Amino acid sequence: MKRNGTCPICYLKRLVGIREKVTEIYDPTAYENGVALTPPMGWSSWNTFKNHIDEDLIYDTAKAMVDSGLKDAGYTYVNLDDNWHSSLRDEDGNLQGDLTTFAHGIPSLVKKINDLGLKVGIYSSNGTETCEDLPGTLYHEKQDALTFAKWGIEYFKYDYCHHIKISPYAPWVYGISVAKKGERETEFYSVENATLFGSARLWRDKVTPNGFRVTGLDANNGAIEFENVTVKEDGEYIVTIDIRKKGRYKKCLMVKVNDTDVYMVDFPDQKHYNNTARFQTPVKLKAGNNKIRLFNPIGNRADSAMLQYQNMGKQLKKATEKVAKDTNSQEKPIVFSICEWGWNTPYKWGKTAGNLWRTTPDIRPVWPWMISYMYRHNVKLDKYASIGHWNDPDMLEVGNGNLTYDENVSHFSLWCMMASPLILGNDLRSITPEVLSIVTNKNLIAINQDPLGIQCKRIKKGGVDTLIKPLADGSFALCFFNKYGGAKNASCSLRNLEQYGLKFSEEYTVTDLWSGETQKISDKICAKVNKHGVKVYKIEF
Ligand code: GLA
Repeated sequence: MKRNGTCPICYLKRLVGIREKVTEIYDPTAYENGVALTPPMGWSSWNTFKNHIDEDLIYDTAKAMVDSGLKDAGYTYVNLDDNWHSSLRDEDGNLQGDLTTFAHGIPSLVKKINDLGLKVGIYSSNGTETCEDLPGTLYHEKQDALTFAKWGIEYFKYDYCHHIKISPYAPWVYGISVAKKGERETEFYSVENATLFGSARLWRDKVTPNGFRVTGLDANNGAIEFENVTVKEDGEYIVTIDIRKKGRYKKCLMVKVNDTDVYMVDFPDQKHYNNTARFQTPVKLKAGNNKIRLFNPIGNRADSAMLQYQNMGKQLKKATEKVAKDTNSQEKPIVFSICEWGWNTPYKWGKTAGNLWRTTPDIRPVWPWMISYMYRHNVKLDKYASIGHWNDPDMLEVGNGNLTYDENVSHFSLWCMMASPLILGNDLRSITPEVLSIVTNKNLIAINQDPLGIQCKRIKKGGVDTLIKPLADGSFALCFFNKYGGAKNASCSLRNLEQYGLKFSEEYTVTDLWSGETQKISDKICAKVNKHGVKVYKIEF
């Protein structure tokens, strides 16, 4: 047996049981698919229609988006949320639209909506079922991604109901063997001859055929590496992992081949009729020597969600590439919207998995709820947003519930300042002129869609918050937001903004983006802000 790290300190650490993190597979590369370079704009069925949707409603909504001018204002995606699909997968195991409410099938609806110049989004859950208990996509990632890509779906929201976490536990391993499918293994690679890392330890074991086992692979603390796994030719092989059973709980191992490809093996909760068992995964090997490393990457609470969402993101990209190749047509990348409600700090890893990530629980058209749960949390996360990767404080409720005019204006303005996705959630077939004028305010949409892709920064917190957002042309957007209580006075010295990058000028042109009024200001912007209201300005030289 070889041990890596034989220095006296490493030895001492091991002796007293200090565990080292040795097997990071966290990939910090940003998810790039060329879409959602500015926050996506569209509509979703959930906020108003919940589980009462059908193909006519969706198509009529798409038509209303065109007729009302929403499409011209930039709204592009028509998103089917939960309940679009049947509780039955088809005979090939594919998801399919509800067999009666979407009687003509999803592909024909996509075609009709595409013909209006709009794109279609769809929904599933990173679980065995969705939040409405319909079939979910966990363990069907590749198949479902391909279905969506074939249908021409261009936005995918991936929820978190009925999820099953990847276990942080790893089995005891005593060896591996490798063979082509249909052929018998000829060589057994014993853990006795492998390199061990971190807290992985070799023990004598009376039960295993080779008399050894390795423990200590749990929770990203240890790894086993088999360095010389030899095969004659390139191709797909079956790796069999031989384990010594322990405990009755689920376990997981990653099989990393030649430092690049990673394959996951799940071990179910075990019965103990026998003390050993064999678990297999197909892998790609190259002719000659291969390195196979076994470890469990789940070092903390967030790792499981991160890996599952990263996997789905990769499958979506592979699927759209494949469909483009198979049909000899231009690739239609899918905007990937991660919806795990902010439970597993998605703002820290969401950028590596998809285009946007929910940071909050579900929105409701109720002022204290929206401010306490959506705004208050999301406004602090500005450093995580960037071009193609957005914090998502949930879909818009403008026009829903009993929100006042000022509340609707504030809600929309805040989402624009926070570079949040603008996904409408109201009934577009009966949108009022007032609500329409709010959600099509060109000045505000331009702030949201600014190509610099910066989420506003809160520079003052209080009864009235002050938010600033630098824009691509060197100008700044500034917002006063009066969260609670009655009307209040607010002010901000423009000299103060120089520390945030505003260029010096003797005099600035300041435009109120809701009233259109313009003033010349050399230092202080002063305003009276209505109860639950905002003032939003563009500051130019
Ligand atoms: C979750 C999501 C919502 C919506 C529903 C659908 O609650 O957070 O946005 O998609 O599921 O069931």
